[in-house]
Amino acid sequence: MGRPEHIAIIMDGNGRWARQNGLPRFAGHQEGVMTVRRIVQECSRLQIKYLTLYAFSSENWHRPEQEVKALMGLLDTYLTNEIPLLQKNNIRLNVIGDLKRLPEQLRHKVLDKLKQTENNTDMVLTLALSYGARDEIVRAARSVCAEIVTRGLEPKDIDESMLANHLDTVNMPDPDILIRTSGEQRVSNFLLWQIAYSELFFCSCFWPEFSIEHLAAVLQEYQNRCRRFGRVSNEIFPQ
Ligand code: FPP
Repeated sequence: MGRPEHIAIIMDGNGRWARQNGLPRFAGHQEGVMTVRRIVQECSRLQIKYLTLYAFSSENWHRPEQEVKALMGLLDTYLTNEIPLLQKNNIRLNVIGDLKRLPEQLRHKVLDKLKQTENNTDMVLTLALSYGARDEIVRAARSVCAEIVTRGLEPKDIDESMLANHLDTVNMPDPDILIRTSGEQRVSNFLLWQIAYSELFFCSCFWPEFSIEHLAAVLQEYQNRCRRFGRVSNEIFPQ
């Protein structure tokens, strides 16, 4: 199997890593940002075209106010500090999710950073912010209905590609690989439409511990998997 084009990651376990090390949860998220930097750089070095990170889910708004504030603050700092690295590596920043829910100042900053990196072409780094796949599908369904009305179409005219064109991930290939750290084996409302045929990898380490060696091990195992997309394998049934 060739090199994956798109890797998506559920970055889980910051809080448990912090507890295990006798630190406040915030320290786990801070350490998690260091892992983001490491993995972005490594994916760029490996010429992965798309990296998508689940940074804040629509359900994360229900966390204690202090933690939500801390995560928004970290995101703000990340956007300030990491842009030079993205520029240097020709990485375009992208976001998916319901940005309307972000604090206004942060939303403007995100939009500004998207603009600053819009001409970069080697890799797309997508941050899922205030993102939930069911919410994304509902927003897409509303937008499909609006198109149906304005173009005078009928329900039978809706097909998979039309719906996909209204998702936040329009113009992105589906993930080849979905990684979740921390040992949990769930997809937690992340890219539910897009991961229909993704290869799933569950790593037992916490996100702050996820290293380039862990990533290499995933990529190695990916080479051994046989993706059939619901068809039969030529190796099993030669033509
Ligand atoms: C899960 O750990 C992680 C999150 C909810 C947020 C992920 C955020 C970061 C890695 C830092 C910010 C990211 C960027 C790109 C600036 P958890 O808190 O659910 O851990 P737990 O399950 O052990 O409690």
